[in-house]
Amino acid sequence: MTSKELSIRANNVIPGGVNSPVRAWNSVGGTPLHIERGSGSKLFTVDGQVLTDFCGSWGPLILGHAYPEVISAVKTAAENGLTFGATTAIEVEMAEFLCDQIPYFEKVRLVNSGTEANMTALRLAKGYTNRSKIVKFDGCYHGHSDSLLVSAGSGLLTGAIHSSAGISDNVIKDTFVAPYNNLDAIESIFKKHATEIAAIIVEPVAGNMGLVKPMKNFLEGLRQITEKHGALLIFDEVITGFRFGPTTYGTLCNITPDITCLGKIIGGGLPIGALAGFADIMDKLSPIGDVYQAGTLSGNPVAVTAGLTTLKILKSGNVYEIIKQKTKTLIAGLMGTDQFKDGLFRISRLNGVFTLFFNENSVHNLDDAKQCDTEKYAKLFHHLLTKGIYIPPSQFEVCFISAAHSNKEINEFIDAIGNFAI
Ligand SMILES: Cc1ncc(COP(=O)(O)O)c(C=O)c1O
Repeated sequence: MTSKELSIRANNVIPGGVNSPVRAWNSVGGTPLHIERGSGSKLFTVDGQVLTDFCGSWGPLILGHAYPEVISAVKTAAENGLTFGATTAIEVEMAEFLCDQIPYFEKVRLVNSGTEANMTALRLAKGYTNRSKIVKFDGCYHGHSDSLLVSAGSGLLTGAIHSSAGISDNVIKDTFVAPYNNLDAIESIFKKHATEIAAIIVEPVAGNMGLVKPMKNFLEGLRQITEKHGALLIFDEVITGFRFGPTTYGTLCNITPDITCLGKIIGGGLPIGALAGFADIMDKLSPIGDVYQAGTLSGNPVAVTAGLTTLKILKSGNVYEIIKQKTKTLIAGLMGTDQFKDGLFRISRLNGVFTLFFNENSVHNLDDAKQCDTEKYAKLFHHLLTKGIYIPPSQFEVCFISAAHSNKEINEFIDAIGNFAI
């Protein structure tokens, strides 16, 4: 079966032929490739193509595909039973590991996805503060729960949807939206509504409108304003957690949020999410607190094994140093291309994560991101495919470098950009 044939079958039985919208290639055009397997930095399609993967399943695969130690641990865990609906030692170990690694984690609740982590974090913030409203940022994506689907990034942005249908006005009314990197907007929301706001939720480095870094004092300002007004600060670290070091971005930038949400890397490629923070807040969760949250497969032993094995490798090895070096080489190479020098694209990057923005100006928020030339990005996407390179099928996502990428593959990426003509 080819990708084309599978797409026809998929479209008959799966809405849009995909189980998550950005897989549909709507913004770049063409038929989504169907993947047969992955190994290290490579994707193998059902059509027999071999591609160097800079999408990394949207973030979890910091070690690359099918990392032998992770696969072996998963096999052993699976042989011992897939799920019990009762607590296992590995869950305790995972929570202890996270609390040991992150100074401001006292308790951890494991869930099944980043969406679930953020949804629960907001409910917890509302229950803890006894307030009903939240503040999010334009272009930040926190999963697809109702109150977070207003002005969200990622697939909504790719599909030019401001907020999803099927969400009641009441829910939308409870979500304030501010431009990313704009503290004045936050000040003015709090001026009017300070006593109603339960939490600000933010991606400390935004990864769902392309890579957009926090400007100086932005995160510090959010911490000060929330503290002053008795609201909680939630860092959505589903992408950034364990991405830039064996820790959270909050730890690296020395800002302590009240609740942190994790996902992607902490599952090592299997479905997982987590929320964590200080015990007085976390203990509001059921069964000891009155904020309800539950999950048949939460803390699934196979997923936790994949995640914990990955985290231990990240803690003990030199993965971050390897990725840092490769990023340096990549960025220096890209900056040496005529395409960059001629201003065709700008590079936004932070160790191992980068976006090539087809934009004349630098991108600090969603309005800036929207100025990108998405047609040029689509052309780049297809050009890179012809060179055996796979990047996310949307301008508003990030590329990831994993520990599995070789210097040769980094140079191939640079050469492919150097050959790109509009
Ligand atoms: C920052 C961020 N938060 C939350 C999510 C949702 O996570 P999941 O897709 O696991 O539900 C994503 C997904 O891409 C994300 O990038």
